[in-house]
This record gives sequence, C-alpha cells and structure tokens, in this order.
Amino acid sequence: MTPAPVPETAAPGAVVGSGEHILSVRGLTAHVAGQQVVEHVDLEVAATGVTALLGRNGVGKTSTIKAVMGLIGRTGRIDLAGQDISGLPTHKVAQLGVGYVPEDREVFSALTVSENLRIAERPGHAHQYDLVYDLFPELKQRAGQAAGTLSGGQQQMVSLARALLNDNRVLLVDEPTKGLAPRLVQEVGQVLARAAEVVPVLLVEQNLQVVRELAQHAVVLTGGRSVHHGAAAAFLNDPELTQRLLGVSTGAEGSV
Ligand SMILES: Nc1ncnc2c1ncn2[C@@H]1O[C@H](COP(=O)(O)OP(=O)(O)O)[C@@H](O)[C@H]1O
Ligand SMILES: [Mg+2]
Repeated sequence: MTPAPVPETAAPGAVVGSGEHILSVRGLTAHVAGQQVVEHVDLEVAATGVTALLGRNGVGKTSTIKAVMGLIGRTGRIDLAGQDISGLPTHKVAQLGVGYVPEDREVFSALTVSENLRIAERPGHAHQYDLVYDLFPELKQRAGQAAGTLSGGQQQMVSLARALLNDNRVLLVDEPTKGLAPRLVQEVGQVLARAAEVVPVLLVEQNLQVVRELAQHAVVLTGGRSVHHGAAAAFLNDPELTQRLLGVSTGAEGSV
C-alpha cells in the first residue's frame, strides 16, 4: 500500500516530532466576561523541547494558556501525560506539574527575590534551587532585594525561576521577551533553551528569531482557532504562510 502524502499543514493530532506529547488539547473553548475568546483549539506539546504557540495580537494565545491552567472558564479535553485534567481547578493543574509563567510576570514587588521563590515552592515536592541558581546566578546575588526594584529582565528571570524551581512536567511560558532590550531577549532565550533541556515548554513568543532558535514545533492560532500545526522551521521558512497567518514576512528573503 502506498502511504498517504503528508499534507503541508498537518492535521491536529498528527505526529509531532517523536509523536510523544506531554500535553494534548482537543476542541478547547474558553470564555472571558461572557465572550468566547477561544473557539476551537487543538494542540500538542511535544514531550521534549519547545513547542511555539504563535499568532497575531488578540487571537487567543494567552486565553488558551489560561484555559489550560483553569484560570478562565473552558470546555474541551485537556490531557497531561495521558491524564484527563480538563475539569480540574487551577491549583490541581499546578500540583500535577503544569508550570505557568504569565505574560505580565506577576512577581510580588514588595517581597524579596528569595521570598518570591520560597512562596512559589510547591509543597511535597523537591525544589531545584541548584538548577535555578545555576541558570540565574544574578538572583542569588540579589536574593535580599525587593523584586519591585529589579529591571524588567530581572523580574522575568524571577518569574521563570519560580516555575523552574518546582519539578514540573511542562511549562507554559507567555511572551517572556516582551518589552525587553535586545541583550535581555538574547539572555532570556538562552535560559529558555537550557530550561527546555530539563522540561518541555509551550512558548508564546512574538520574536520570531527567538522562535527560530528555540522551537521545534509550531501551532498557529487565528481568531481563537488553531489553524496550523507543524515543524517550526518549515513554518518560519514559508513566507507566504507567515504572511497570511502572522502578518509578517519571514523565510530566506525575510527579516527572520
Ligand atoms: N479580560 C478580558 N476582557 C475582555 N476581553 C478580553 C479579556 N482578555 C482577553 N480578551 C479578549 O480575548 C481575545 C483574546 O485575547 P488574548 O488571549 O489575550 O490574545 P493574545 O494573547 O493572542 O494576544 C482578544 O480579543 C481580547 O480582546
Ligand atoms: Mg497574550
């Protein structure tokens, strides 16, 4: 029998990389203030490395992540390593090992760096301070400093460190380089690359150079729906597709 040709845009549920997924989302819908902001999202997060969640502003990337965390009302099926977590409240989702690094960092400004880390410790689990201080030596030096007095980049490091501290099975990281100076974008990218060696990451990221460097897989949303699933490099190397789905030109002659 001749194998069926592989479609340019793989269908949801198609093999991603090794075919192993840590997180699987099917038919996700989500609501904010009575408005449906996620209409139908299917996505898989590969069991290793970085899966990028891409799309223009306002398409529902943050809402998708919040829905997975149970932070906004949702329907659909969400599986973590084969376990149905669809109906669980946020603290249960977190306890099962889904780490969340929110878009606006949400560090506790009045608390010190070390207090921000201690408050994030998940009870009953080992805490990976060695890993965190290896990745972020600056946080050790600034352990006693109020987090509100840190730069944006340093606050992002605290936010990432809080998630990495716990033994998570997957991290959901929302726009970690947003608003950062180019040098810090590089630095956060390098930290994420090292973090992804330890824990699989679903990464929302507008900087396509960072996506190119980090992500193996890409899922693209438009209007609250997932419309493309496939290899990140193949997507970024297709100027017609990136133009149509992201409104930016990439590829061999593009800027990224
Ligand atoms: N708190 C809110 N109240 C009303 N609408 C919201 C709220 N948060 C998000 N939305 C709307 O939901 C849609 C998806 O937003 P969001 O998930 O933040 O998109 P993205 O992260 O892709 O930029 C947008 O149309 C946005 O205006
Ligand atoms: Mg967002």
